[in-house]
Amino acid sequence: MKKVLALFITIITISTSFATEGMWIPSLIDMFHSDMKTYGLNLSAEQIYSTNSSSLKDAVIQFNGGCTAEIVSDQGLILTNHHCGFDAIQKHSSLENDYLKNGFWAGSKQEELACPWLRVTFVKEIRDVTKDVFKGISDDMSDSEKNKIISKNIKALEKAENKGGSITAKIKPFSLGNEYFMLITEDFNDIRLVGAPPSAIGKYGGDTDNWVWPRHTGDFSVFRIYANGENKSAKHNEANVPFKPAHSLPVSVAPKQKGDFTMVYGFPGSTDQHYVSGKLAWIINKERPARIDMRNHSLNVIKPAMNADDLTRIQYSSKQARIANAWKKWIGQLKGLRELDALGKKRKFEEEYMAKAAERTEWKTKYYNVIGDLNKLQEEGGKYEFARSMFIEYFYVGPEFVKYSFEYYKLANSYEKLEAEGTLDKEVERLQSKSKGFYKNYNREVDHAIFNELTQLYIDYVDPELLPLGIKDTWQKQGDLIFEKSLIMNPEKMAAALEKSPKKAAKKLKKDPALKYATSIYMAFVNKVNAGYRAFADKEEKLMQTYVAGMLEMFPEKNFWADANSTMRITYGKIEGSAPYDGMKYTHYTTIDGIMRKHDESNPDFKLTSRFEELYEAKDFGNYMQDNELWVCFTASNHTTGGNSGSPVIDADGNLIGINFDRSWESTMSDFQFDERRCRNIAVDIRYVLWVIDKYGQAPHLVEEMNIIK
Ligand code: ARG
Ligand code: ASP
Repeated sequence: MKKVLALFITIITISTSFATEGMWIPSLIDMFHSDMKTYGLNLSAEQIYSTNSSSLKDAVIQFNGGCTAEIVSDQGLILTNHHCGFDAIQKHSSLENDYLKNGFWAGSKQEELACPWLRVTFVKEIRDVTKDVFKGISDDMSDSEKNKIISKNIKALEKAENKGGSITAKIKPFSLGNEYFMLITEDFNDIRLVGAPPSAIGKYGGDTDNWVWPRHTGDFSVFRIYANGENKSAKHNEANVPFKPAHSLPVSVAPKQKGDFTMVYGFPGSTDQHYVSGKLAWIINKERPARIDMRNHSLNVIKPAMNADDLTRIQYSSKQARIANAWKKWIGQLKGLRELDALGKKRKFEEEYMAKAAERTEWKTKYYNVIGDLNKLQEEGGKYEFARSMFIEYFYVGPEFVKYSFEYYKLANSYEKLEAEGTLDKEVERLQSKSKGFYKNYNREVDHAIFNELTQLYIDYVDPELLPLGIKDTWQKQGDLIFEKSLIMNPEKMAAALEKSPKKAAKKLKKDPALKYATSIYMAFVNKVNAGYRAFADKEEKLMQTYVAGMLEMFPEKNFWADANSTMRITYGKIEGSAPYDGMKYTHYTTIDGIMRKHDESNPDFKLTSRFEELYEAKDFGNYMQDNELWVCFTASNHTTGGNSGSPVIDADGNLIGINFDRSWESTMSDFQFDERRCRNIAVDIRYVLWVIDKYGQAPHLVEEMNIIK
């Protein structure tokens, strides 16, 4: 039973440290509230998280599963990032109404644009259910017996809570399976686009400035939540009315100073603070450099093609941004991890951990060997994990025809089944519409060049026995055949063939060189890599659970926080700049003058609209200025990660002062290791947001809806 009890030791430690590391679980507010107060917070714990009365939590929502948004009026008005609303803005854009280029501002609620594909998620309650999930487990059980009981408990607990309707309960593991929390949430599905600045504001600086400080991006967009007549969640319906929230954030235009308290409340996606040294070394020295290399090669093909041709530029802009976003982050992470000797720090902690484990016999049996075991496992199983990473890069981010061709696998190989089930028409329809979407943004010369570059790399990197048989000698020929002869690669012929006779098309597809190639890549992964990877990952999961259990048990004085897992978290710190390198110092804010300084009409990342230039010249910044300056962005020491985009940056009194959207390049390492001296999140200043809405967008009625604090 003792071992089980050890699993229950949660992160209960009274905080004495001043580190701003950590993404804290809001329902455990009592553990970190007093530390927040030492930073200057003026709110009670109840005002931040409560299930009895309204609190800040009720104004913070997950935006479409991946980003965060916040409610800023009693009529359900919400703010998130431009890059989080990008898809919705693009979907509503056409050549006549190019909202990406020109921006969009609804003059009234009638003009707001329905986005039925969007949803936002409210958190009703976060409940620690660790004890209930582990109920019935004993020491003498095997791992699989334990897992069975855990799954059964989780199902029963979820079932007891799920009563149908829009509210759902889901249990998720935290701290590598040492803790479990139930998330009770509610989705709203009638979301409408209210406003967006032009990309020349919302994406100003583009990829050049992405992950970089000093920053001048007005990365925001405006939406509204609608509900039915009873203020309940409902599908999109013209008759729905603006949602009345339990809480909306007041918006502060008051001056800000260095050192002011800040808190970011949102939905960080994932972090990996507990990787052991062997794993981190593998990431730093092997996995990430290979993935960066793969992306270097594809970007080197895409970028010149985009520069040479306007259509290609439009077709590839979003794909290029996606590839480049992680690519640039990874480069920053590796640089930071090396510069700060993250590995050396890990190894030092591992020595400390083992010395601690040696202090007591029971610790020694449980924990002394776990680090060694993990490092050994990485050496043995790393080749499968590496092949898996490379497969993901190649199949999902590499030459696009590979993944696309594989869409035809079902029709080619299960024609009879589809016909018998009566789903054939639907499948054909799916493929016809997939094809339209795919070819709209596809250039075969570009893809062929990417294929040539990346296939060679894929073969060079991956262990030959984990690749399709003979690929090394045949891939070039296969490529030529694919780009010359494949039916899939000829959209008109493919569409006509499907139209005429799906049966004959299915037969032809069976021999199609593109589908054959894609299948060989996919099946090599399934048959040669995946089983090895699963075995490795299962062992690793178990060992990591033990390793972290040891940390929680043996170092109760340390402030442990559970890695991000897309659930609601709070992180706090203060407004501050940083000095990441010798002789170099970043200020904590940027101003509109910096936008003008970067302005360059010959570079698409730094173009401005003439309206913006006119407004700048007119200097009509009104109440939004501080000491004659209009702040655009600021940095603070809040520990954030992907998913925190769109999160509210909140001051000591619970007012909104900015919208989080990025980190500086030197900070990106914080997904593995946080360094207080250099890790800073980047927010767009709320006063710039208001100025753009009010003056640029001429939508002062939106500002009037908000509760503005001077
Ligand atoms: N770096 C920001 C975050 O990961 C994304 C910013 C979007 N802008 C861009 N130029 N790609 O996701
Ligand atoms: N830009 C990220 C996001 O989209 C935020 C970050 O990684 O700091 O969530």
